[in-house]
Amino acid sequence: MKMRAAVLERFGEPLAVQEVELAEPRAGEVLVRLHACGVCHTDLYTASGADPSGYAPTVLGHEGAGVVEAVGPDVTSLGLGDHVVTLFSPQCRECIHCLDPRTNLCLAIRERQNEGFLPDGTTRLSRGGEGIRHFMGCSTFAEYTVMPEIALAKVSPEAPFEHACLFACGLSTGLGAAINTAAVRPGATCAVFGAGMVGLGAVAGCRLQGAERIVCVDLSPQRLELARGQGATDLIEGGEGAVEQILEMTDGFGADYTFEATGNVAVMRQAVEAARMGWGLCTVAGVAGRGETLDVVPRLLITGRRIAGSSFGGVKGRDQVPALVDRYLAGEIDLEPFVSHRLGLDEVNRGFELMEAQDGIRSVIEFS
Ligand SMILES: NC(=O)c1ccc[n+]([C@@H]2O[C@H](COP(=O)([O-])OP(=O)(O)OC[C@H]3O[C@@H](n4cnc5c(N)ncnc54)[C@H](O)[C@@H]3O)[C@@H](O)[C@H]2O)c1
Ligand SMILES: [Zn+2]
Ligand SMILES: [Zn+2]
Repeated sequence: MKMRAAVLERFGEPLAVQEVELAEPRAGEVLVRLHACGVCHTDLYTASGADPSGYAPTVLGHEGAGVVEAVGPDVTSLGLGDHVVTLFSPQCRECIHCLDPRTNLCLAIRERQNEGFLPDGTTRLSRGGEGIRHFMGCSTFAEYTVMPEIALAKVSPEAPFEHACLFACGLSTGLGAAINTAAVRPGATCAVFGAGMVGLGAVAGCRLQGAERIVCVDLSPQRLELARGQGATDLIEGGEGAVEQILEMTDGFGADYTFEATGNVAVMRQAVEAARMGWGLCTVAGVAGRGETLDVVPRLLITGRRIAGSSFGGVKGRDQVPALVDRYLAGEIDLEPFVSHRLGLDEVNRGFELMEAQDGIRSVIEFS
């Protein structure tokens, strides 16, 4: 079939919205008609050429929500009309990682996905007979996508698409960092560094876990106000003095749980330093630049602090994204403040501009 899609032709150039070919789903694959897709830093990072593992041409986008339009052979868990959220982090339910509750890093299709191919090593996207690669296994800056069944979460049809798509990346990452990775205890004191989509999700996750005090640290006063709306009880301006302020607020001890959601290694260090001696757990969700390292005084660890990394919030996507969406539908999370701009597919480059200007939390592309 023919469809419109935003193609990254060359790094550093605007995406080119154009007509491309999408082939039918093969065994284990599903055709999804997209209704909404968030614009994320990772898309921009790849488009800019800064990601050394990036490739072009490719159709970007990985925060999609839509409806199943057709299924290939052997697809058993999804059917026509199902509402789905795309998962760059799949869940096959069979590999040793999927069978272990300690991780969500499914091993089934990692290598092929990283190369821009579907699990059988080919692509469904093309133009004039030349293949176009899939981005993060998703390629959702397009009217339709073909994805493996194991990379789609079936969610309630009651969730509006523009909100459902937020669960495809940053929101679930933040919520899961608090709920899964840190497993914040009721009554705890938490400190969240960064109030973008990930950090705000972590603030909401700490609140849902019953934290008593949630300190949020960011450079932007507007973003700190959004954090208050998600349950932050104390707001701190980021920078040099942030750790000291958190220590002062906690009788000199630090927070039971800290979260880093900026991608800045100096802030990661602050998040470790702001964790309580004895049992403080620092969860790192931000993605640092290539080659950067985290500099921590080992004494902080000997005296009981721990550091954990969290990819997609430790969320096993097919099982947990539907459950998170249900909590949103039950009124436990307010997502309206996160959708700052609604754009058409033709305006996708404007979405990048808004992100670079830190204008709002998420621009969402809506497909008519
Ligand atoms: N682990 C995962 O699976 C996963 C998934 C999605 C995103 N991420 C990563 O998480 C990070 C955050 O993503 P996002 O979409 O929320 O980004 P974002 O850019 O929207 O938010 C980052 C926030 O950090 C704030 N900040 C910058 N410097 C600061 C400082 N010194 N002190 C306090 N706050 C500071 C910024 O003001 C901004 O509000 C990025 O590194 C992103 O790549 C990780
Ligand atoms: Zn993303
Ligand atoms: Zn698996």
